[in-house]
Amino acid sequence: MIFGRVKSLDAILATAQKKSLTRSLGAFQLTMLGVGAVIGTGIFVLTAEAAQKAGPGMMISFVIAGFVCAVAALCYAEMAAMVPVSGSAYTYSYAVMGELVAWMVGWALILEYAIAAGAVSVGWSGYMIGFVQSNLHIIVPLDLVRGPFDGGIINLPAMLIAAIVTLLLVWGTKESATVNAGLVAIKIIALTLFVIVTLPVIKSGNFTPFAPLGFAGISGAAASIFFAYVGFDAVSTAAEETKNPQRNMPIGLIGSLAICTVFYMLVAAGVIGTVGAQPVHGAAGEVLSPGTPALSAACRSIQDGAVVCSKEALAWTLRSVGHPFIGWLVGAAAIIALPSVILMMMFGQTRIFFVMSRDGLLPAFFSKIHPKFHTPHVITILTGIFVALFAAFFPVGLLADVSNSGTLFAFAAVSIAVMVLRRTDPSRKRPFRTPLVMITAPISILGCIYLFFSLSKETILLFVGWAAVGLVVYFLYSKGNSNLGRGIIDSPETDEDAPPQGVPPFPGAHTPGYKDA
Ligand code: ALA
Repeated sequence: MIFGRVKSLDAILATAQKKSLTRSLGAFQLTMLGVGAVIGTGIFVLTAEAAQKAGPGMMISFVIAGFVCAVAALCYAEMAAMVPVSGSAYTYSYAVMGELVAWMVGWALILEYAIAAGAVSVGWSGYMIGFVQSNLHIIVPLDLVRGPFDGGIINLPAMLIAAIVTLLLVWGTKESATVNAGLVAIKIIALTLFVIVTLPVIKSGNFTPFAPLGFAGISGAAASIFFAYVGFDAVSTAAEETKNPQRNMPIGLIGSLAICTVFYMLVAAGVIGTVGAQPVHGAAGEVLSPGTPALSAACRSIQDGAVVCSKEALAWTLRSVGHPFIGWLVGAAAIIALPSVILMMMFGQTRIFFVMSRDGLLPAFFSKIHPKFHTPHVITILTGIFVALFAAFFPVGLLADVSNSGTLFAFAAVSIAVMVLRRTDPSRKRPFRTPLVMITAPISILGCIYLFFSLSKETILLFVGWAAVGLVVYFLYSKGNSNLGRGIIDSPETDEDAPPQGVPPFPGAHTPGYKDA
């Protein structure tokens, strides 16, 4: 067996508590679900980083990243519909490519979820501080609201929001469908207002030079801005609850990604056209990387500021073009809506840890359930501590890039898994089939590889280091403790060992790694 220990797909499906979910979601609900899960720090904050990397060419970056996500999403959806159980990419890989690959995917998903939660916390902090300073006119000491890479010491508001979300998760807060619908509306209204206010006053001169750092800059920005699309997997994991999934899934996935891409491009055009988006250079004319002390220092010397220096790019743009009230509204929308993205990411993380622990690859205490709240409190608190620490000391762009590296790895693994399973198990029932899989999946894999290698060298090295640590942990601990390796056959899930319920950000199994029951 080339893949070593492979968990049988039938065993996984039998282990998972099978309970059929009502097929109630149509194309429209799926699309809204996707839009709600996707819009967050990427567009509200990382637009500034993308501008520093690509200048006005970041508009192309949005299209490239959206396209790679779309093809990956189509592959993801086939697996999600076929194996609608906890653990998402980790579980699919376990069944198709074996334990070692699954472990590496699960290990990479820690980057995707936990680090992303840290990134969104930092993004939230930027808007919170901007809001307090420009509306309440309170001068906040920068040392305490920015990490060391951004010219400060510690980002306390980012830690605070991570801690609050952790407590909510331990408590078992439920974000209802109504709250989610409200948050989607808030985000869409905020972006729409931004577009309405900025587009009529754009100046075409601001678009030249269009690609000051060439195509490499556009690719680098695409790799970072990929973060703005992460979360669409929420749509894939709702396959089981979708009416006519073969028709509605692609509409939901492609539709939500298309809507976000159009919004993102319009917002980017609004930023570029009104305040300009040329990268800030150092004293010697060198290009400065986002999230570095050098850029922070250069930004301090720009009298009127620049959007690439802003921690709340959209609110800053609106204030700069004479719309402080709309800037206030957009800032408030970000402050209200971003915590739900943190919640979703941390929820996903704890459930992946939970499943890995249940498989014996991580220690059993990870899957301990709180007697009163019925949530995996140990792993939630542990995750929360790490998220808070990432958020306290690292800049949003670096965190987003590192998160992207893990996500790209996981998406590539799922795209491979889809093709392998079509060959090895062609007759299995597939509620949704990836269209033209032998073309779509390779494009997805190539797209993930291209974006991965467009990330900064530091990010790639961090990923490699993380993967190496993962391999060491696997061979020192997980391999010997694996239930599959020890011949322990999973017993059917009971209420006690099923992934704990509690905080689906949406009704049903919409969170990667979450199986509704
Ligand atoms: N796409 C999500 C965001 O931009 C992760 O915050």
